[in-house]
Amino acid sequence: MTETPPQRPWERHLRPSLRGLTTYDVPQVVALARLHANECPEPWPEAVMEDLAAAIAEIDLGRYPDSSPRRLRARLAALHRCPPERVVLGNGSDEIIALLLTVLSGDNERPSTILLPSPTFVMYGHSAHALGLRTLEVPLRPDLELDPAAMRSALREHSPALCFLARPNNPTSSLWDGAIILDLMAEFPATVFVIDEAYIAYAPGESLWDEERPANYVHMGTLSKVGLAAIRLGYCVADPTLAAALDQVRPPYNIPEPTAVLADRILERHSDVQATMIRQTLTNRERLVRILADLPNAHVFPAHANIVLARLDPPAVAPRLRAALAARGILIKDVSKITGLAGCVRVSVGTSAELDLLEEAIIELRGQLWPAA
Ligand SMILES: Cc1ncc(COP(=O)(O)O)c(C=O)c1O
Repeated sequence: MTETPPQRPWERHLRPSLRGLTTYDVPQVVALARLHANECPEPWPEAVMEDLAAAIAEIDLGRYPDSSPRRLRARLAALHRCPPERVVLGNGSDEIIALLLTVLSGDNERPSTILLPSPTFVMYGHSAHALGLRTLEVPLRPDLELDPAAMRSALREHSPALCFLARPNNPTSSLWDGAIILDLMAEFPATVFVIDEAYIAYAPGESLWDEERPANYVHMGTLSKVGLAAIRLGYCVADPTLAAALDQVRPPYNIPEPTAVLADRILERHSDVQATMIRQTLTNRERLVRILADLPNAHVFPAHANIVLARLDPPAVAPRLRAALAARGILIKDVSKITGLAGCVRVSVGTSAELDLLEEAIIELRGQLWPAA
């Protein structure tokens, strides 16, 4: 019999919404191929690394960083052709998500509702639930596109404070119709639409960002998916009033100086190298699609991010493939338990060497996982 530990007196102050909430923790596993975390693993050339080291060497470690990194915000503002006051920086876009939910959470009597297409990036729901906010999930269509009628009726009926739309989406890699999103935004001005373009580098020419968008449009971005996951830099461009509210709750000094310095140096001097890394990832994506499409009766969904989603047949093979690859040091994500994704695995685009390992392992595993094929 397991005993429930006695409750210490202070525990009654714990936020009730934390009960039952899982902890987002990704175990650090030594792996030969990390195809589970949606990173851009292309290596930065040595010359770039040396330049970054020189930039880091100039940091005065005993001093606080700029509380509102003005230089980096000005650079991002120039890239987005908007005033710097509209740019808010976060410790990854995870922090921006939490800040948006905090400022738009409503009051205690009427907590806000958050609208999410489903499935989508887990942190939107996780952070909303941590704050005790209700989420409303609208299933995607079977082809993993947005369902405009269902979205419209949820917006009409519940008037949510926020609607998060990842474009391209994770874990589906789908790129939802921009015209539908812009129509919804115009029809429902009382809802703030966060267009999360974390993966937009892998859908060239598809960004919805335009500084003339209405006040309920928030553009969210991150450097995590373009070769800089280690530095944790996310940002949003919001209406000035919303940006000011985000700054009211943002912890001061949330961007460490090394992060600000490295991000600024890369955007200033090395964006051409970054573009080459992205182009290589796009080429590797085509190869990954071919590898997965070659599995017996697999269905590979159109891929617009640096991830590929495949539905395997029979569906029970998805967790088995993940486990068999993990045993060989190759990490992929089994998403088959997510509603709507039965039988699916999500595989991030790796380097050519990582894809070599994946391809070899899959050839070896074929007979074991698909004995009849
Ligand atoms: C759609 C989407 N948005 C945001 C993030 C979080 O990015 P960051 O590393 O900037 O916190 C992820 C991470 O996987 C994601 O998939």
